[in-house]
Amino acid sequence: MVGFQSPCVYIWLILFCVKTNGEDVDVLVLLPKDNSYLFSISMVRPAIEYAKKMIKLDTGFYSGLNFSVQYENSGCGSNALFSLVDRAFKKKPDLILGPVCEYAAADVVRMASHWDIPVISAGALAVGFKRKEGDYSHLTRIAPSYLKMAEIFSAMFHRFKWQNVLLVFDDDKEERNCYFTAEAVHSVLEPEELSMSVHVINSKHYNVDTDEIMNRISESQAVVIMCAGNDIIRDIMLAAYWRKLTNASYIYFSIELFNSSSYGNGSWKRGDRYDSEAKQAFASLNTVTLLRTVKPEFESFSIEMMKSVNSAGVLDQYSGDNMNVFMEGFHDALHLYALALHDIMKNGSDKKDGKQITQNMWNRTFEGIAGQVSIDSNGDRNGDFSVMTMMDPEDGTYKAVLNYFGANGSLQTLPGFSSNRFTLTERYETPNPDKSSGGLEVSTVTCISVGAVMSTLLVMAVYFFRKKYKIIIERQCQQEQHSLRKHHHLREDTIAFSMA
Ligand SMILES: *[C@@H]1O[C@H](CO)[C@@H](O)[C@H](O)[C@H]1NC(C)=O
Ligand SMILES: *[C@@H]1O[C@H](CO)[C@@H](O)[C@H](O)[C@H]1NC(C)=O
Ligand SMILES: *[C@@H]1O[C@H](CO)[C@@H](O)[C@H](O)[C@H]1NC(C)=O
Ligand SMILES: *[C@@H]1O[C@H](CO)[C@@H](O)[C@H](O)[C@H]1NC(C)=O
Ligand SMILES: *[C@@H]1O[C@H](CO)[C@@H](O)[C@H](O)[C@H]1NC(C)=O
Ligand SMILES: *[C@@H]1O[C@H](CO)[C@@H](O)[C@H](O)[C@H]1NC(C)=O
Ligand SMILES: *[C@@H]1O[C@H](CO)[C@@H](O)[C@H](O)[C@H]1NC(C)=O
Repeated sequence: MVGFQSPCVYIWLILFCVKTNGEDVDVLVLLPKDNSYLFSISMVRPAIEYAKKMIKLDTGFYSGLNFSVQYENSGCGSNALFSLVDRAFKKKPDLILGPVCEYAAADVVRMASHWDIPVISAGALAVGFKRKEGDYSHLTRIAPSYLKMAEIFSAMFHRFKWQNVLLVFDDDKEERNCYFTAEAVHSVLEPEELSMSVHVINSKHYNVDTDEIMNRISESQAVVIMCAGNDIIRDIMLAAYWRKLTNASYIYFSIELFNSSSYGNGSWKRGDRYDSEAKQAFASLNTVTLLRTVKPEFESFSIEMMKSVNSAGVLDQYSGDNMNVFMEGFHDALHLYALALHDIMKNGSDKKDGKQITQNMWNRTFEGIAGQVSIDSNGDRNGDFSVMTMMDPEDGTYKAVLNYFGANGSLQTLPGFSSNRFTLTERYETPNPDKSSGGLEVSTVTCISVGAVMSTLLVMAVYFFRKKYKIIIERQCQQEQHSLRKHHHLREDTIAFSMA
């Protein structure tokens, strides 16, 4: 018996305990340096370093994986590509983490896919990145995309049988987070035979005309879905309250996935004379946000993150009770990569096979720092979301009343849920499906790809030129990028909103 055992163990070791010992993995992290982003290098770095440390401590199968991580400032535009190209001239990285901003990610992911380098991002959330067959073949999204978020609306529309929807969003024409958010909601609700219309505001350049928005709302719209900064949401809700448009004929949602200080307890408060009315108005507002689950390991992670971020002097935006999802995402990204690398090494492949590693990260579920992470077979994370609502208009505190689970598509009501709140008392009998008003169809899918081709070419050209004519070209580049961006926007505006 004893004699038999050791050869067995020996064989077992050969088969399964593949040596990841001493495997060096070269990671390039592309994130903005600017701390006004929740995903700036100083915010996310501690999370990646934490994951790296834990993987190193692990005595199981990742032991010996040696990640060498380099952080580069990606900005939110084409600088990300410059950093990648600069870096690749020395030695191509084995893995790229980031970028988060859509336009930065489009450039980098195309280039990385071409070079067979896996990219894992907690951003790149726009609809366009869903198409993995070509340009974005090496992209794995570790945070739930806007499309995954939009599923909760589709589930609610089915459950509550709503017929009309008005999308109101603030398009800053730069990073365009709300534009991409609304685009996803639009593309998920589009096939549903609803009457849908769109109202775009641009708070950066124009004062927000709440009268105009109120007219749109009262023109027979029932469910209003908004994406904008909290100040604008407050103005809109106050106007609706004053116009008595907060009764049971209307249901209001705002979408706020990342900034936990923009919703929940006290989000109506400004210390001005409208606070008490704003509180009443916010009682009619529902907020869609990420569902937070907490497991014990997460506590120590949170504490450590808070310490690191504190000591780096970048706190403020980040209030302890709601963990920054980008930290969580990039932390989990490193673990996912380690799992996949281990698997493919078992099969005799190695870290240079980016395509295989990427495929191996898809269609799998693993334990992340905050709970289970499930990546679908298209390489996008399934998302869980909550609807938060003010439960008690007296003390004005918030609670989640509905949860949506992306992996099984189910909508769960929580204690405190009241169906009255989601029932329209006055239905419009003849919703007059006005398909042409949607306008977003020809959306950014085209624009991201077109934009990315153009800007990749431009940026590459400029990069090579730069070597020779550094100063002059850089100035021109800025101008060109500027006019390219304008052109870009012009195109989208005319396509997308001429009918809105
Ligand atoms: C890990 O990688 C770094 C950089 O490549 C190297 O300096 C270091 O010696 C490696 N450590 C181990 C334990 O292999
Ligand atoms: C809600 O208010 C609008 C506008 O004041 C009014 O037309 C509508 O009848 C009201 N609906 C209910 C259910 O009170
Ligand atoms: C988060 O929201 C708060 C309140 O609306 C705002 O003051 C702050 O600037 C936001 N932070 C970021 C990083 O957007
Ligand atoms: C490893 O090879 C086996 C047998 O060929 C295959 O079934 C499995 O899917 C492969 N695993 C990976 C990670 O490619
Ligand atoms: C995903 O994995 C499951 C089992 O884990 C398998 O049945 C299914 O075929 C896979 N889907 C794809 C698209 O690979
Ligand atoms: C909001 O206030 C309620 C009641 O005071 C409290 O239970 C809850 O934890 C608070 N929520 C947040 C996010 O601070
Ligand atoms: C869906 O998944 C969630 C979380 O895993 C679970 O709590 C819920 O019961 C599931 N619902 C159904 C209908 O399977």
